[in-house]
Amino acid sequence: VPALEQEAENASISQGVVESNHAGFSGTGFVNYNNVAGSYVEYTITADQGGEHDLTFRYANGTTTDRPVSVTVDGGSAQTVSFPGTGAWTTWQTRTAKATLKAGPNKIRATATTANGGPNADKLTAVLAGPPDTEAP
Ligand code: GCU
Repeated sequence: VPALEQEAENASISQGVVESNHAGFSGTGFVNYNNVAGSYVEYTITADQGGEHDLTFRYANGTTTDRPVSVTVDGGSAQTVSFPGTGAWTTWQTRTAKATLKAGPNKIRATATTANGGPNADKLTAVLAGPPDTEAP
């Protein structure tokens, strides 16, 4: 199953800026959320097939305080995804959530829920959660 992804710097950004001063990001940079609740990055992921997907957010958080983010698909019900400290702003890790996507474009909005804002956001990757692999005979 091919991965679908979008770089945060190419997503729609509200109250955040694209920066590139902390190495290790993919693409041309990352999004530094403003340090305010409500700042968001809205990715567009165009799925080949509808169904449950793993949404993997690549991020860095150089603080020791979690920066939880509320994730919605097309404005639907929200789930909170935790983004704990990664040890340094140049140390990038991933967190994965599950969500149902429809075939075609899906707007996946990741909104900061605390006054610290979100973590530095590198990219979002979506993979269709298929049935488990079976062994060839
Ligand atoms: C530092 C860091 C930024 C980060 C910010 C924050 O300024 O250099 O990349 O976004 O802290 O706390 O959000």
